Amino acid sequence: MRLDRFLCEMNVGSRSQVKALLRQGLVTVNGKAEKEGAIQIREYSDDILFRGNKLQYQRFVYYMLNKPEGVVSATEDKTAVTVVSLLSGEGRDDLFPVGRLDKDTTGLLLLTNDGETAHRLLSPKRHVDKIYRVTLEHPLERQAAAILEQGVDIGDDKLTLHAQVSVQDDCTILLTIQEGRYHQVKRMLQAVGNRVLALERISFGGLALDEKLKPGEYRTLTSEEIALLGIRT
Ligand code: URA
Repeated sequence: MRLDRFLCEMNVGSRSQVKALLRQGLVTVNGKAEKEGAIQIREYSDDILFRGNKLQYQRFVYYMLNKPEGVVSATEDKTAVTVVSLLSGEGRDDLFPVGRLDKDTTGLLLLTNDGETAHRLLSPKRHVDKIYRVTLEHPLERQAAAILEQGVDIGDDKLTLHAQVSVQDDCTILLTIQEGRYHQVKRMLQAVGNRVLALERISFGGLALDEKLKPGEYRTLTSEEIALLGIRT
């Protein structure tokens, strides 16, 4: 990998900042000051220091984002702001969201550059729990809750899998599902004669949305959270 790319990915600075820092001789590679960003380095084995501090390369990175409304779950979009652009300060150009939330859905979205893990977490066979806080137009009738829990016809080949409903107040429920079909929660509620007014994902694969994160804010996953998702580092 090029030295300048490595430094950007290690969050030392933007491309232009990295160039300036290199020129100032603040980066050493195997004990020697290196001013040329284009040189190839071995990111796992070379000893690379910035201002005397060792930079330890991480192949895979994992972030939890509190997705705000109005942002699309994509890597690029012609007009809308993307979830990936919210993490542009990280200096990585290989991040993507683990699955999708609708543009108007808020809450927990993972972003990573680890395709294998993303694939595993999204596999329909894995039955990964996703918990949504759903604000409804009307209170949910007991019978409607039972239908949602047993499996409901949302117009696909198959009924939805078993789900869990926990009523929070008149027009708020927590809905746990294990699938990720297109507009699934909205279609499930529509199928029982209700309507979703607001949707927030508060948990994914046992990982809870960090309440300290305001909409649009993100942080790296802790090692405990990474282990919880079954990721081996
Ligand atoms: N279900 C929906 O309808 N929308 C989402 O964004 C996620 C689940």
